[in-house]
Amino acid sequence: MNAETKAAEAIRFVLNGKTVEFAVRPDTTALDLVRLHAGLTGTKEGCAEGDCGACTVLLRRGDGPRQAANACIMTAAQLDGTELTTVEGLKHDGALTPLQDAMAQNGSSQCGFCTPGIVMALTGLIEENPEPEETAIHDALAGNLCRCTGYRPIVEATKVAAKAKPASIARSVLPPLRSEIAVGGCVLHQPGDLAGLLELRGRYPDAVLLAGGTDLGVARADYHSGWDRIVSTAHVRELRAITATRDEWTFGAAVTWEEVLATVADDYPSLATLIRRFGSTQIRSMGTIGGNIGTASPIGDGPPPLIALGATITLASRADGERSILLEDFFLDYRKTAMRPDEVIISVTLPRLKDGELFRVYKLSKRYDQDISTVCGAFWLRMEGDTVSECRIAYGGMAAIPKRAKSSENKIIGRPLDSESTRAAVEALSDDFSPLSDWRGSAEYRMKAAGALIQRLAHDAAGETVEVMAL
Ligand SMILES: Cc1cc2nc3c(=O)[nH]c(=O)nc-3n(C[C@H](O)[C@H](O)[C@H](O)COP(=O)(O)OP(=O)(O)OC[C@H]3O[C@@H](n4cnc5c(N)ncnc54)[C@H](O)[C@@H]3O)c2cc1C
Ligand code: FES
Ligand code: FES
Repeated sequence: MNAETKAAEAIRFVLNGKTVEFAVRPDTTALDLVRLHAGLTGTKEGCAEGDCGACTVLLRRGDGPRQAANACIMTAAQLDGTELTTVEGLKHDGALTPLQDAMAQNGSSQCGFCTPGIVMALTGLIEENPEPEETAIHDALAGNLCRCTGYRPIVEATKVAAKAKPASIARSVLPPLRSEIAVGGCVLHQPGDLAGLLELRGRYPDAVLLAGGTDLGVARADYHSGWDRIVSTAHVRELRAITATRDEWTFGAAVTWEEVLATVADDYPSLATLIRRFGSTQIRSMGTIGGNIGTASPIGDGPPPLIALGATITLASRADGERSILLEDFFLDYRKTAMRPDEVIISVTLPRLKDGELFRVYKLSKRYDQDISTVCGAFWLRMEGDTVSECRIAYGGMAAIPKRAKSSENKIIGRPLDSESTRAAVEALSDDFSPLSDWRGSAEYRMKAAGALIQRLAHDAAGETVEVMAL
């Protein structure tokens, strides 16, 4: 922004069809904004950390569809220039939508606390997929907890509603984004291109670099922290791009997991299966691939498969330009990375699978849906005949960082993937890892589970069906 331009003093967006402005700090939660400032109390607060879905709203950004998102971990900063729909905005001319009607007729609500969130999540589903299969309905509900009705009547009501003619959705004209908004001592910057982002990152290395906010929003809620300066990556053109060549895919860092999922389903089906278990629809529609890497969690689900696939990431700063490194070299120690304070992650590049290559990733968590991994194992093998000529194995949940199992890999390379090499690879895991015990799993469990995943890979590679317990 040039020096003469004054920062805007309110967040401006479309709320239930009308353009509104609220002079709230950009780090106010979207949930507080709609409940306390807009007086719309249909959106509920349950867990306040993205887990229960009671606060689900629909958010439309740019030309995209309306997508379910958790208002409790979203900030007002993420609303400027968007369209937000709360449960109050669903009625047309005072009439309930077919879904609301079917929920009421089918006994799909008892105490009703979860109901607005469930209606919003399922509305998002039906708008995108007017004839959802039962599995799609369950997927859409993975981020919504109902403690008293049970899900069967909710699923049945969704099927009834999906048969009704969907109401046409009026798309509001979105107000233009403002590059800087300052309210109550909190400043939000919304650069539209990489040059602008790098300039701001260089000038304010301590500002909160906000992508989808699904990690930052939880941390903010947990520690009741305020943010004085926010630099958003959500509108940076280069970070929103997905490009493909014959040999690789490149995902901009601000591409969401829903967008990654829609892209990779054919090329990496095993990765797609993992992403369907990444949080919930609400989390995947906001959470980004760059945020998952930037947060550097030892149990993040993105890094193990990306490392096993041989991904590189491109970092950039205004002072030193761009550099690319292998993702496995990015993680240095617990939550410590090779990224300098003035750098950002621009993109992640994944080699496409070639003939003779095999890729699998397996996630073990306490709960099948909406849970972070206890152990995640990812395996990439290149076969020459029956022999493994190259191999990368990466685990999450086994060390302070997502990490390759090089000793284990060495027991497989140059051999067939048979019971002997597999046993040796499992034994070698103790040279690669000495995991911690925590509430997700003991060290002993983690070692056994990591070994079992190598055995599962061998069965999978041999085309044998393995009966796998979800947990
Ligand atoms: C209920 C719930 C369920 C979840 N389930 C899963 C799960 O199953 N698996 C899993 O792995 N994770 C899960 N997560 C964690 C989270 O959703 C992911 O890590 C997500 O990918 C984070 O992306 P984001 O865009 O929301 O990041 P943000 O919260 O915006 O940012 C996270 C960190 O990355 C940094 N960052 C963001 N973009 C960049 C960039 N371009 N360059 C440098 N740094 C950057 C930020 O500064 C911040 O430090 C879950 C979270 C919640 C709340
Ligand atoms: S209040 Fe539980 S997900 Fe938002
Ligand atoms: S109806 Fe009571 S929690 Fe779902």
